[in-house]
Amino acid sequence: MAKAKVAINGYGTIGKRVADAVACQDDMEVIGIAKTRPNFEAVVAVKRGFDIYTLPESIEKFEKAGIKVAGTIEDMVKKADIVVDCTPGKKGVANAEMYKKYGVKAIWQGGEGKDVAPVSFNSVANYDAAYGADYVRVVSCNTTGLCRVIYPLDKLFGVKKVRVTLIRRGGDPGDIKSGPIDGLILDPVTLPSHHGPDVNTIIPHINITSAAIKAPTTFMHVHVINMELEKECTADDVRLVLGSQSRINLIDDGITGTNQIIEYGRDLCRPRNDMPENCVFKQSISVSDGELYMFQAIHQESDVIPENVDCIRAMLKLEPSNVVSINKTNKAMGIGFCEQKPLWMSIPDFPETFLKT
Ligand SMILES: NC(=O)c1ccc[n+]([C@@H]2O[C@H](COP(=O)([O-])OP(=O)(O)OC[C@H]3O[C@@H](n4cnc5c(N)ncnc54)[C@H](OP(=O)(O)O)[C@@H]3O)[C@@H](O)[C@H]2O)c1
Repeated sequence: MAKAKVAINGYGTIGKRVADAVACQDDMEVIGIAKTRPNFEAVVAVKRGFDIYTLPESIEKFEKAGIKVAGTIEDMVKKADIVVDCTPGKKGVANAEMYKKYGVKAIWQGGEGKDVAPVSFNSVANYDAAYGADYVRVVSCNTTGLCRVIYPLDKLFGVKKVRVTLIRRGGDPGDIKSGPIDGLILDPVTLPSHHGPDVNTIIPHINITSAAIKAPTTFMHVHVINMELEKECTADDVRLVLGSQSRINLIDDGITGTNQIIEYGRDLCRPRNDMPENCVFKQSISVSDGELYMFQAIHQESDVIPENVDCIRAMLKLEPSNVVSINKTNKAMGIGFCEQKPLWMSIPDFPETFLKT
């Protein structure tokens, strides 16, 4: 069967990872990447063998830099079955007309407002909503990380409410403009932050509020999570459920900080030392009086990448089952510490009472 033709518009932190992730799947291929500056990332794209497209006014800059351009971004879009828009947040929405004009399906990222597309996406929680859809938004790294833990816990125990504090990284490692370089910045100072409502674009019935603080670090975000659960359960039950999810890594072995997780990624020889799984600190999981407490770290540069691959599969109807798609994506990318199974099957001796709704 012919591979699905995927175009990547925007080749920065997210775009270059999505391109590599798509390139290693057997049912899709990268037909081109687009950016506006002939910088080091363009040089790497050439080395990876990707065709480069740019804006008409930028072609000369690339030629002067000795980088061959395959055409304009519109030329790239015309050839694609689907475009993954990875342009900077709030800029991607301006490309909607172009995608519509050429009848091409499109995925936007979490930096765009929820109204950019009728569907917001998470692989575990609502794959079916994107099945055959034309326009979808893969939610942000934080929302993805929250959905991955809330969804299975809600299915098995019922989530009464979630309260989460996000300690956000100030910028990505390659970012030379963001901050802070000192101080903890309330982001925003008004409460609650937008992160809770963003989870509701995926799992609408969850009662969730959030607060966010920006910190001078580039490694990862940290979530301090408090969840009130409907059904009685122990910390071990929660560990069992979260440990059964292929995109959740229960972190232990002396790791108590985000810098050690990144070092762990390096030691595992992960590409770009990425950690696309949620890193839930195993020892932090505690349950008291029907309330769950836990810490998790989210690698902002990589957790949404496998979700983009699954989203392509759903939108192009390449695979009807999210479990099959998740495992296929995981296997090709070398991620996941266990195999994703349907939630009920993943916990063989789970007490039957938990399964009653
Ligand atoms: N970074 C994260 O932690 C993270 C996590 C989850 C989701 N997201 C979301 O993912 C999206 C992309 O973020 P990012 O961090 O990857 O941004 P980024 O690193 O700034 O990359 C953006 C890319 O878009 C290119 N670009 C800029 N203007 C363009 C245009 N008009 N047409 C085509 N390409 C253009 C840039 O390259 P040139 O400068 O060469 O054009 C760059 O390659 C945003 O919605 C963001 O909120 C980011």
